[in-house]
Amino acid sequence: MTDIEYLKKYYSGNLDDAMNKLKEGIPVQYIVGNVDFYGINLKVNSNVLIPRFETEELVSKVVEYSKSFNNPTIVDIGTGSGAIAITLKKKILCNMIATDISQEALEVAEYNALSNNAQINFRLGNLLEPLNEKIDIVVSNPPYIAYDEEIMDIVKNNEPHIALYAPNNGLYYYEEILKNISKYLNKKYLIAFEIGESQGNMLKELSKKYLNNEAIIEKDMQGRDRFAFIKTF
Ligand SMILES: C[S@@+](CC[C@H](N)C(=O)[O-])C[C@H]1O[C@@H](n2cnc3c(N)ncnc32)[C@H](O)[C@@H]1O
Repeated sequence: MTDIEYLKKYYSGNLDDAMNKLKEGIPVQYIVGNVDFYGINLKVNSNVLIPRFETEELVSKVVEYSKSFNNPTIVDIGTGSGAIAITLKKKILCNMIATDISQEALEVAEYNALSNNAQINFRLGNLLEPLNEKIDIVVSNPPYIAYDEEIMDIVKNNEPHIALYAPNNGLYYYEEILKNISKYLNKKYLIAFEIGESQGNMLKELSKKYLNNEAIIEKDMQGRDRFAFIKTF
């Protein structure tokens, strides 16, 4: 569907105003104000990343892996709109925690959890710092774009940079999480990351270094390395 078709289908306000915003380079999802993600509707605004199709694939893979757990405690680090946490909570009987460093993003996520009737424990803070319990499943789609990577203007000019960019060639957040996660993990655990297409080998190295565990790299539907799973089962 083209952006104009999308607007005509989903936008309920003045179409001329909406078309002008589109011409100014605003993403159609921000103009409409909500998106469909994995079968649910989520409010989005410029404080949150627009959830991507690849992230639906991540959710679907985590749902499959989660079948070997019984009522797991799951944390979604960097929840943004709440896309991952809310869809997982709808599919898995679990205790769901979701964190973000952005208060504005958490407000959107809390709204989305309420409107989708999902019980989630939201916490504001840096990466693992808000956690004080043992975790079975860690899911994260952290910022992973290197500062010098070329990305589309529509993304760079509209989506929150705190959701996009990471130091150390985009690897900073993965390393911070893996470096500090072991004290929070139960013996049987799953860590599931969305990653940049060139980051698979580095994720394997980080996983070996900090958890002495071999990461499994999986591809997205475009055939690009997109997911890293680290597990003990
Ligand atoms: C790529 S977005 C992912 C959003 C959402 N999980 C999704 O998949 O659509 C990364 C998120 O991480 C959050 N974030 C950035 N730095 C963080 C930090 N130090 N601690 C926790 N969250 C952080 C951003 O605010 C943003 O919401």
